Amino acid sequence: MQDQIARAVTRLRAGGLVAIPTETVYGLAADALNADAVNKIFQAKNRPSIHPLIVHVPHPCRADMSEDEKEEAWSGLLSQWSRDVSKEALALAKAFWPGPLTMILHKAKNVLYEVTGNQETVGLRCPGHRMALELLERYSGGLAAPSANRFGRISPTTADHVRHEFSDMDLLVLDGGPCRVGIESTIVDLTRLATQGPVILRPGMIGRREIEDALNLRVSDAHQAAGPRVSGSLSAHYAPRTAMAFSGALPSGRDRAGKVAWVHFPGTDLPPALQALDLAETILPARPEALARNLYALLRDLDGQGFDLICLDELPSDPCWNAIRDRLVRAVNGSGQA
Ligand code: TXA
Ligand code: MG
Repeated sequence: MQDQIARAVTRLRAGGLVAIPTETVYGLAADALNADAVNKIFQAKNRPSIHPLIVHVPHPCRADMSEDEKEEAWSGLLSQWSRDVSKEALALAKAFWPGPLTMILHKAKNVLYEVTGNQETVGLRCPGHRMALELLERYSGGLAAPSANRFGRISPTTADHVRHEFSDMDLLVLDGGPCRVGIESTIVDLTRLATQGPVILRPGMIGRREIEDALNLRVSDAHQAAGPRVSGSLSAHYAPRTAMAFSGALPSGRDRAGKVAWVHFPGTDLPPALQALDLAETILPARPEALARNLYALLRDLDGQGFDLICLDELPSDPCWNAIRDRLVRAVNGSGQA
């Protein structure tokens, strides 16, 4: 692992790209202060240049620091990237970092417009993955990294997914094993605190309630409202090639072609519209954390099997399923187009 990290540092210093593991999904990283390197990310992903990238930052605290020292360490780190580090930003860093949370703050002068999609704000995240943290510490800089997939495709949660996605490139992929969380970080916008309070732009496995508890403030959910650009907020993102539908909204037509994947929770009755069809069943885990961890691998796997339709069970209404619902609704909206 040491060797691989040393090679990654060398490539990054030379302005190259490296795929890195995080606890959410794999990222495609470049030095956040090198505009040429950052531009390579957009080229490799085929991503429109107006979509901002998250800057991944190192963990500045040691276990033996007092609470005050930790707060000072976070404050020093965040000030390198943001010109207004609020007490809310510090509270979120202390509560959730390293972890699956991204904060949007007003950018500092040195932050490149190539990274922010020409906006005055920057997304920051300290990832909760040992290998990513070691790389960040040894690199001692920020790494701009979107998910390591081509634009509009499913995010990778294993090193093999990344290699498959970029098989035409000589890309160094740090293999940190399968991602523990499995879906992208929760994004919280703290740039409109005075008028709107904290706003969740993209739901993730850190939920609204937990953020409210950490801040002692009401947090709104606005990922559908107009506002800063989040590519995850395009209605068709995370797009499998196979047509997908929720069981409550199955496309009509008795002559639907043969092979259907029925993906459901234990104990769900077969929807009438699927009766007498050639079915392959997949049983979903009953806990959201377990489903999130396997969600993208499952979608990739199903998408590769040549089904004519993937039929998904309706999800439970409890808020702990919100992030998974968000990804699946987008997958359904974007599905079946290739
Ligand atoms: O879990 C994650 O967040 C993963 C891992 C690799 O860290 N990264 C990730 O990156 O999902 P990406 O680029 O696929 O999605 C990040 C989202 C984008 O949709 C982008 O629009 C949004 O974050 N974002 C970044 N900077 C922003 C900003 N300044 N204002 C609003 N949205 C921003
Ligand atoms: Mg992405």
